[in-house]
Amino acid sequence: MIHIGKRNSNFEQTVDGWVEVAIRSRPHLFRTLVSALPGVYPLNVMNSLTRLSANGIVSAKTTLPLLQDAKRRSLKTNGISQDKLPVPHPVDFDWRFAPTATRALSRISQSLGKRIACLGTPSVFANLNKSRSSSNSHYFDRCDASINFFKSIGLLNVDRLDCFRDFPPSSQFDVIVMDPPWYEDEYKAFMWMASQLVHVNGFVVLVLPPLGTRPNVTLERSCVLEWGERLGMNLVHLSEGCLPYMTPHFELNSLHNAGIYCELGSWRRGTLAVFEIQQRRRVSRPPNTSKCEWDEAVCLGTRFRFKRRRAFGLVDLRLDTIVKGDVLSSVSRTDPVRPAVDVWTSGNRVFGCEGPTQLYKLFSRLISSPRRASVDLSEGGPHHEFEAVRQLVSLAKHEKLERDRGCYTPCIVS
Ligand SMILES: C[S@@+](CC[C@H](N)C(=O)[O-])C[C@H]1O[C@@H](n2cnc3c(N)ncnc32)[C@H](O)[C@@H]1O
Repeated sequence: MIHIGKRNSNFEQTVDGWVEVAIRSRPHLFRTLVSALPGVYPLNVMNSLTRLSANGIVSAKTTLPLLQDAKRRSLKTNGISQDKLPVPHPVDFDWRFAPTATRALSRISQSLGKRIACLGTPSVFANLNKSRSSSNSHYFDRCDASINFFKSIGLLNVDRLDCFRDFPPSSQFDVIVMDPPWYEDEYKAFMWMASQLVHVNGFVVLVLPPLGTRPNVTLERSCVLEWGERLGMNLVHLSEGCLPYMTPHFELNSLHNAGIYCELGSWRRGTLAVFEIQQRRRVSRPPNTSKCEWDEAVCLGTRFRFKRRRAFGLVDLRLDTIVKGDVLSSVSRTDPVRPAVDVWTSGNRVFGCEGPTQLYKLFSRLISSPRRASVDLSEGGPHHEFEAVRQLVSLAKHEKLERDRGCYTPCIVS
């Protein structure tokens, strides 16, 4: 524990150093300051401004207007992605690229080879398929919602593939373009899968987290590069912070929850790494560290994830409040509330539930044949079932409104 605390305070000092330097060019807007930093989470930037001022390093005359600007509600929307792909869900750690990054990755991949596999990169696959020249691209992902979306628009070169669990497909590609969730285990599993999918002398185009992402990210990145070497991959190119992301609905809600309302633009910028495959080495696949499985139901475009967990006996299906305001205040995998979440919306609203799998089944039945299910519910179904479904429908409506307006609004479901 002491060790972790020490590391975090080192990180705070590093962030304070970056902020102190960035402030010298006198940014007027909070977003300008955040954009000048190497992908530091806006809440950490706010905390740094407060610290610098409290420690007398930067005057309150400089920090206060920036802190006030962060809290100013912008009239412009914060740019929730309105492309046609399903709204990103926090369980998938699905941060989508901004269009400039999507185009850059498409261009780079096409310059490196013809047969391209998009592994966990739905935006790149969508972009490659805008033009006819892309019939050689293939999409692999664990997320059923994105897979089904592409199939529904007639793109059939798509397959469900979980990098931790599934057998590698037999097809071979010239280039793999991938953006794993930004955690070491996920990188290892994705890179292992890529090493099975790409032929020798082919390329892996990978996005790495920028240096300001969290404490220890430098160490994590070196582990990823070493893992690449073990797999026979040779790093041939690295460009820091050149791939901008959009802010997903779930993160926007967390930021608003933390009191940051201003327009932030594409402040998060990933680092581009390109590897050439020199040889294929036999290395065993890293173990799956995630024990949770989730089922999904979609209502009015709002995605609900239900933890796969059977409950026995009589259970109350109503959603329980587990955090104030229902929105999870962070988007990090280490958030201590995460293990208690049974039902999770794409807008980052989280709830406990005694029978999440039963609720999933009930809700899916209702969505697929609303008339029959609503009759069942109103004519004899237990009151708590009726109530739970009412809660879910009101959440779905509420989050649809948020997405349409591009802003967070408080929602009372209980
Ligand atoms: C950080 S997002 C990348 C999205 C990308 N930036 C884009 O805009 O196209 C991570 C992606 O990896 C997928 N994913 C997460 N874990 C996975 C796994 N174990 N196997 C395969 N895909 C996975 C998610 O569903 C999501 O599409």
